Amino acid sequence: MTGRFITLEGMDGAGKSTHISNIIQILQAQGHEVISTREPGGTALGEKLRELLLHENMHPETETLLMFAARREHIDRVISPALVRGTYVLSDRFTDATYAYQCGAKGVPASKIQLLEQWVQSDIQPDITLLFDVPVEVSLNRLATARSPDKFERENAEFFTRIRHAYLQRAIENPARFRVIDANKPLEEVKKSVEDIILSI
Ligand code: TYD
Repeated sequence: MTGRFITLEGMDGAGKSTHISNIIQILQAQGHEVISTREPGGTALGEKLRELLLHENMHPETETLLMFAARREHIDRVISPALVRGTYVLSDRFTDATYAYQCGAKGVPASKIQLLEQWVQSDIQPDITLLFDVPVEVSLNRLATARSPDKFERENAEFFTRIRHAYLQRAIENPARFRVIDANKPLEEVKKSVEDIILSI
């Protein structure tokens, strides 16, 4: 038996994290074992790298390499073993975020990310990716009220516009895997959309 790998993506402030506990409950109610994890992070070493990634300034390619270093550890210690056990893995972000942030927003060539993706992931790919999409102004307004923003959350509208476009482009290029959710709707409606998608897996 193999589990399923579900990822959540979206700009900072798109509200994806709000839905994690609900998704876990739905899957558990269906009798699945579920683990919830996140990137960057997900392991002890990954969480240390997360601290550096979110708070230290560095070259975008250094950032990309560290994201994939954390990801290598995450796959080896958490994601692959869980999938082999038949567990559902829910990850708050994965490689689509590297394409959106480091490639789309910071200009790292996609070809370099593809190389790392092949090296680090081999055949590990999400089965389904929920992309929480909101207009850039909405994301920025939500972030304006966030406490102690990290370095990504302090970026400007142009940066977020590039992220949004990169994510939507990923969704267009991978239609079988992506489900784009209009996260600008009232919370109950967004919750319902998420439930429908999870129940349909
Ligand atoms: P996020 O997932 O939004 O966590 P929180 O809700 O606690 O702020 O923060 C992670 C940040 O890391 C986010 O701004 C996007 C960034 N990131 C990348 O730039 N590249 C990546 O590959 C990943 C996984 C995340």
